[in-house]
Amino acid sequence: MKKFFIILGISSVVLACNSGAEGDKKAEEPKAEEPAPAAAAPSANDEKALELIGSSDCTTCHAIDKKGIGPSYMEVAQKYEATDANINTLVEKVKSGGQGNWGAVPMTPHPDLADDDAKTMITYILSLRN
Ligand code: HEC
Repeated sequence: MKKFFIILGISSVVLACNSGAEGDKKAEEPKAEEPAPAAAAPSANDEKALELIGSSDCTTCHAIDKKGIGPSYMEVAQKYEATDANINTLVEKVKSGGQGNWGAVPMTPHPDLADDDAKTMITYILSLRN
């Protein structure tokens, strides 16, 4: 189990680096020529989500596999199935902030976060369920 987390940690670092370096190149590539992703490859949503999470303040309080000020994303994924209803609820929670589902410590509100971006992040987070 520990090994799995380490691998996951490494691959997310690799992913984060890739998405930064390839940002410009990607925009020039015509969509039709993109190769179909292999089954284990991260989806376009995952890459976008990691970029958004990395450029927001989320990492101050959340890590993928370690509890910080807030729950780890993997804990969040275990708690909520990736249904539309859960995704919408969590989008609202991240935007308005609040406490009580994990303890007394509140999450700060993120009122300027675009719905679409929040949804991309939450969809990725809930995909970490195993
Ligand atoms: C100041 C620290 C802080 C920041 C910044 C923060 N969070 Fe949180 N987050 C928390 C805490 C604390 C909780 C637990 C809240 C609770 O108990 O209901 C939480 C809970 C969550 C949950 C689960 C919500 C629930 O009701 O179960 C998600 C999903 C989440 N955060 C995503 C994010 C995302 C995405 C960002 C960046 C846009 C972010 N958080 C930024 C502290 C933070």
